[in-house]
Formats: sequence, structure tokens, C-alpha cells
Amino acid sequence: SASPLMQQLIFFHDHALLILVMITVLVGYLMFMLFFNNYVNRFLLHGQLIEMIWTILPAIILLFIAFPSLRLLYLLDEINEPSVTLKSIGHQWYWSYEYSDFNNIEFDSYMIPTNELPTDGFRLLDVDNRIVLPMNSQIRILVTAADVIHSWTIPALGVKVDGTPGRLNQTNFFMNRPGLFYGQCSEICGANHSFMPIVIESVPTNYFIKWISNN
Ligand code: CUA
Repeated sequence: SASPLMQQLIFFHDHALLILVMITVLVGYLMFMLFFNNYVNRFLLHGQLIEMIWTILPAIILLFIAFPSLRLLYLLDEINEPSVTLKSIGHQWYWSYEYSDFNNIEFDSYMIPTNELPTDGFRLLDVDNRIVLPMNSQIRILVTAADVIHSWTIPALGVKVDGTPGRLNQTNFFMNRPGLFYGQCSEICGANHSFMPIVIESVPTNYFIKWISNN
């Protein structure tokens, strides 16, 4: 993870997986052991007590997933005074970006085709114009689309927002280290859906200010 929210998502994944493993082991053990006993009850008609136990117990176990899940859901929606707002617009098949707070800087961001890729480039993942954003600050993303539904998705930051024509969706993130963060469109948006990647250049704040004032 490169952001606190993605870290929380990973923690939740590990937590849910741990519960899943415990249930699988218990049920697997019980089913396996059925082969090795000779208990028979020909007069079994009902068992109120065991029915109560094996209904309520799983319900309680599910609560241990439901509450952390709800906590995370609301945490992801929280906006804490963003210092930069970036608008990203999905097109068939590229993204365009607007830094509306800074002189209305706007540009398109296309994937670099494989035949034009530098030797150290990432195939189907690198773009001609990267988004530059400051690390260690709250960033708001506004996502929309011009034609069909797209989805602005960056796994390392825990961000995944649909861009829908006629609507403006909001999300936010905080990058806690510098580097390049890659993402892709994740809403099936047409023939070239696979070819509209996203690249964020996470840089220190003073570098960001330098970049934004040279544009
Ligand atoms: Cu845009 Cu898939």
C-alpha cells in the first residue's frame, strides 16, 4: 500500500481471510471426522438446541466481518480538507485531467503504444502525460466521463471510482511515499478498455509546486 486507506483495506482483507480459514478448518475437520465414527440415531426427528446454536453462532461470526466492513466503508468516504483537487474525465479511450485550482491546467493522458515504448517502460501501463501530485497531503479526485462509464482505479492507493457521464463522483487519498503509482480503467468501456492506464507521479510538495508553476 502507498496510502493509509489501502493499508486499512489490506488489514480488513487479512482479518476476513483469517475468519474464513478458521471456518474452513472447523467445517473440514467435522466433515472429515464423519467418515470415522459409527454413531447412528434412527429416531432423530428434530434438534431445537443444535439448530439454535448453528444459526446464532454463524450470525455472530458474521458481525465480526460486518462491523469492520462498515467502519471501512465510511472511512473511505471521509474527506479531510483536501489541499489539491484533480478532476479526471474518462473518454473512449484515454483520460483527461484538470487542475482546476491552478490556472486551469488541463491535458490528455494517452497510453504509450508498445512500438513506441522505451526499453524500461511498462507495456500497456505507461502514459505520455503523467499526473503529478504532492505526497503527504490530502488529495481530492473528482471523476466523471464524457461518453460511456469508465472507472478511475489505482490499487496501491485504494482508489476505485466510476466516471459516469452527467455525474461527478468524489473520492480522496493520501500518498505516504514518493514514486510512480499505476492504475487502469476498470469499467468495461468498449474495444480499447484495456488501453487507458493511469500514472501518478508522487513527488515532494516543493517539487509539485515547481511543476505546477512551470505549466
Ligand atoms: Cu474506460 Cu474501461
